[in-house]
Amino acid sequence: MAKRNDMSKLSGAEQFEKYYLELYSSRWEELKKSALKADRKIYRYVKDLPSSVDFDLPKFLPEILAKKFFADCTEIRPQEGNDLDFYYLDFASVLAARFLEARTEHLVLDMCAAPGGKSLVLASDMNFKGEIICNELSRGRRDRLKRVLREGLGDLLNEQRLDLKVKGLDGVKFGIKYPKTFDRILIDAPCSGERHLLKRPSELENWSKKRSQKLSQRQYGLLCSGLLALRPGGRILYSTCSLSEIENDGVVRKFLAKKGEFARIFDYEKHQMMELIHSVDFIERTEFGFQILPDKAHGMGPIYFCLIESVV
Ligand SMILES: C[S@@+](CC[C@H](N)C(=O)[O-])C[C@H]1O[C@@H](n2cnc3c(N)ncnc32)[C@H](O)[C@@H]1O
Repeated sequence: MAKRNDMSKLSGAEQFEKYYLELYSSRWEELKKSALKADRKIYRYVKDLPSSVDFDLPKFLPEILAKKFFADCTEIRPQEGNDLDFYYLDFASVLAARFLEARTEHLVLDMCAAPGGKSLVLASDMNFKGEIICNELSRGRRDRLKRVLREGLGDLLNEQRLDLKVKGLDGVKFGIKYPKTFDRILIDAPCSGERHLLKRPSELENWSKKRSQKLSQRQYGLLCSGLLALRPGGRILYSTCSLSEIENDGVVRKFLAKKGEFARIFDYEKHQMMELIHSVDFIERTEFGFQILPDKAHGMGPIYFCLIESVV
């Protein structure tokens, strides 16, 4: 008689626990605890900041580097009654999107853009000038994306310094529809989102390793599409908010094995933000990229990111 697979006897929550305990071993309990705490958000201001506003730079960074890379991020809440526009975003997300180094002269694609926090970071990095396509497959989430972009960028869009278009394509179609088009592509892929799952035990019951593997196939498809849509010399930032190795380095490993002729990992030591990464202990190097996890990163994250460039 065939041997029964042990995992099949476990509930979704038990399978989840087993998989992540094996992956993170003694770190898992602390990681879980920190992920269950309220998200640590940082407030990001996207328009020009008046000097009259009291403004605290992120305290967990050396001041000089906080000023250099994150002068538009603050830890304080806007004063009651003032009408400044803040967008609430985890600092780890700002850092990951900023790592793409989108600039005015680039044609930029944000392939999985809703609700839009990272699109705002990209627009800011482009100095609110140039061309960006923000894409989102889900109609409901696309409506939210449009609202976030309108509220976050309003006047700047009216001034038409920034040519921003919202599209509703399946990300896997970009490679065929727009071959060799974009200089910078952000693929912030749909993922397991364990921080969200941990807070909702009923959803945790639906977890299985197979689901994570299925998601990794979608993520791989998006990455391949991104590669086809990339101009020679362009860069892709692949990111997820997953804790699962399968969806992070696992996707990149498969991508490099199959497409390594056309793409490679960016030489990180040449990246200007390495100065910052080397100066803090909460951004962890993984096989192909970086991870920011809440137990070591003052409650921020989780986020995984990896920078890929085309081989010209
Ligand atoms: C992790 S979220 C993106 C978060 C966003 N980048 C931000 O910073 O606000 C992933 C998004 O991808 C969308 N999505 C899922 N499958 C997609 C596909 N095949 N093509 C495009 N978008 C997709 C989801 O609806 C979801 O809104």
